[in-house]
Amino acid sequence: MTAQSWDPEGYARHARFVSELGQPVLEWLAPHAGERVLDLGCGDGALTVELLAAGCEVVGVDSSPEQVAAARTAGIDARVCDARHLDFDREFDAVFSNAVLHWIKPPGSVISGVVRALVPGGRFVGEFGGKGNVTAIHAALADALARRGIDARAIDPWYFPSPEEYTRELEAHGFTVERIELFPRPTPLPTGMSGWLETFAGAFAAALPPAECARFFREVEDAVRDVLFRDGQWFADYVRLRFAARKRT
Ligand code: BEZ
Repeated sequence: MTAQSWDPEGYARHARFVSELGQPVLEWLAPHAGERVLDLGCGDGALTVELLAAGCEVVGVDSSPEQVAAARTAGIDARVCDARHLDFDREFDAVFSNAVLHWIKPPGSVISGVVRALVPGGRFVGEFGGKGNVTAIHAALADALARRGIDARAIDPWYFPSPEEYTRELEAHGFTVERIELFPRPTPLPTGMSGWLETFAGAFAAALPPAECARFFREVEDAVRDVLFRDGQWFADYVRLRFAARKRT
């Protein structure tokens, strides 16, 4: 593995829980038939199809051509697009995003495109990793890199804000925050910690020679075993930030 990549088959095997756990944020969106909705970071479209089933007109965008191809086979109007360069102008009643915004820095680069994409009064509803997310895993990755003389801060792809910090970002870009909540959600991992690391920690492993990656991930797994392996099951120490905001008119 050389960097973060999104192979649809591997993602479905290691991380199907990401879309399965997306129901509550869909409930916050409360989509109506006939609405135009942008699904930001649609992946293979597992949640996007629910927006279609609710009668919405949906466009999905994702930076991964492989995931977009998978979403298209599910009948979704999916497009390859970097979330930092959204090119929509007052085309959507709502923008929805699940488990994507923690990958995008700086946050203003995506929020400015979202506010432009919405009609006045349009909703931005999403969920992603918030302050304290994957603390044990994050620390173990940083420690294992530090032992190899590498400062993880320079290559860290993740952004986990507090509700206060994200509210400030949203309001600075023209949103009113209607609801925002930070809560722990320890999440069982179907293919264990090794599956999670292979799927999501590629950016850290990319700092190492490929031959070193397996040993690096084993070291991280050993370091978090005491806190994240219970009764024969691995968990990720997820903390979610869920929000609903409205574009000011
Ligand atoms: C998350 O969903 O919180 C997450 C997933 C992968 C890497 C980091 C965080």
